[in-house]
Amino acid sequence: MQAFIEGMPKAELHVHIEGTLEPELSFALAKKNNIELPYDTPEALIAAYDFHDLPSFLKIYYAGMSVLIDEDDFYQLTWDYLEKAASQNVVYTELFFDPQGHTSRGVSFDTVITGIRKAQTAAEEKLGIRSQLIMCFLRNMSAESAMEHLVMAKPYLGWLVGVGLDSDEHNNPPVKFREVFKLAKEWGLKLTMHCDVNQKNTLEHIRQVIEIIGVDRIDHGVNSLESDDLCELIKSHKLGLTVCPVSNQFVVQSLTSNEIRQMLDKGMLATINSDDPAYFRAYMNENLIALQQEGDFSREELKTLMANAFTVTWLPEDDKQVYL
Ligand code: ADE
Ligand code: ZN
Repeated sequence: MQAFIEGMPKAELHVHIEGTLEPELSFALAKKNNIELPYDTPEALIAAYDFHDLPSFLKIYYAGMSVLIDEDDFYQLTWDYLEKAASQNVVYTELFFDPQGHTSRGVSFDTVITGIRKAQTAAEEKLGIRSQLIMCFLRNMSAESAMEHLVMAKPYLGWLVGVGLDSDEHNNPPVKFREVFKLAKEWGLKLTMHCDVNQKNTLEHIRQVIEIIGVDRIDHGVNSLESDDLCELIKSHKLGLTVCPVSNQFVVQSLTSNEIRQMLDKGMLATINSDDPAYFRAYMNENLIALQQEGDFSREELKTLMANAFTVTWLPEDDKQVYL
């Protein structure tokens, strides 16, 4: 089964590029940029990864970004992820990035997006892995800041396929960003938002992303299973759900394999993703293997999960067919 999983051509639709920062690269960049890390070795850094819920994870994730300073740093970060993904037979990926996590530290939007873009182009040419970029807004920051960043992105619209919403969901409902997402849609961008697992008001948030924001996909969205109405809504809109098993294991102490099976049984378009693979120590193959082992998923079920991913990509229809 492991060889079957490793050999499958895969698409990954939920991965934060800043969440692919491996400890070794972190140390190399800290040295180059004269930044002092509070750990002596990459192993000591990994040992300090102590997360048990979303806020405790986010704290470590944002602290990790401090080593990313110039365009080359963003290039290297993105190249390393794309190289790793290609080595796991990921043939197509949609990458999130968090510009506010960088502009708030004095790193320019242009530096961030240009470094990422150059690596995407090089990886497609040299490794054959195709990718598109999704700009995420940090929901714990203001709607005004999100709007400023959307406007900042206007000269780079050709480099973006969509916008997303991530970070701490507590007291930051989707409707807070209604105007930002409305404008992004008018500019031709696709829309997605995180509805993390077991968050306060999660069912209301899932309803808002569908009925008020009009998203094209939902990140996580696992709690929708608690409501027949939401499941029907998700199915009728043909919305993909980007589920992240190993991430869920850390954040809510469950791989959510039962929930993923229920989604498949209901004909919902569940997909499997890594979220923040360097922090959760699991890329696509490791996520699929862990899920398969816990839930005893069949080859057919794994094929359905991967076909779902290609179905709900934001590729042009004709391009999608190449993979399906
Ligand atoms: N940013 C990076 N990973 C995230 C996650 N799993 N949920 C919310 N925001 C994130
Ligand atoms: Zn995420």
